[in-house]
Amino acid sequence: MPTPMQILITIVVGLPLLFLVLHMIARIVRHFYKFPMPAFAADIIDNPLRRRIQPPEEMPLRHGIEPGMTVLEVGPGNGTYTLATARRVGDTGRLISIDIEPKMIERLERRARAEGITNIEARVADVFELPFEDGMFDAAYMIAVIGEIPTPERAMREFHRVLSASGTLAFSELLMDPDFPLPRTLERLAASASFRLKEKMVHWNHYTLVFEKGD
Ligand SMILES: C[S@@+](CC[C@H](N)C(=O)[O-])C[C@H]1O[C@@H](n2cnc3c(N)ncnc32)[C@H](O)[C@@H]1O
Repeated sequence: MPTPMQILITIVVGLPLLFLVLHMIARIVRHFYKFPMPAFAADIIDNPLRRRIQPPEEMPLRHGIEPGMTVLEVGPGNGTYTLATARRVGDTGRLISIDIEPKMIERLERRARAEGITNIEARVADVFELPFEDGMFDAAYMIAVIGEIPTPERAMREFHRVLSASGTLAFSELLMDPDFPLPRTLERLAASASFRLKEKMVHWNHYTLVFEKGD
């Protein structure tokens, strides 16, 4: 029978250590083998700890999203951040959210209907071939997506194409994501597609970078 001290040590030391080891294994696997997050995982990553670190209603503010904007989101997952952004752009704004996984889009549409949100256009599409006209968005953002994309340079070029001259591109990332990229990796990628850093909010376990078009 374990003593109370042994149980405490298992909880305080064992569980974080187990998480760390699993995280490292996941990072190594993901480094070599990239694929979109399966739909069942969307609810796992939407948990109270995550919502504390990246509060849904605060994310549109971190991304510089204003009421009335036309905004593109890539990779909504289960849509928690999409709904908050739709509320932020309001009735005069428009949010187009694309995901490569049809199940994510179905889930997002269901949630938007249930909450009576009508300014989201959800579509199945690939970030590498955005089905939109040049310069049509005021802002674009991705939360915990860029790290799971095999050739992010291509995505950056597409973002550059669909954003207006004053458009902004935001990335929010989370350390506990096995695909977590370092801020400097994204800064380098963005610069390669002629984006300039506009805002940088870095915390030890998450960050947001906002870029603007440099030409
Ligand atoms: C880790 S989830 C993040 C979900 C959500 N943004 C969040 O933070 O909770 C990544 C999402 O990106 C989508 N995705 C991955 N590759 C994509 C691609 N090439 N084009 C569009 N969406 C993609 C996945 O299907 C998934 O919904």
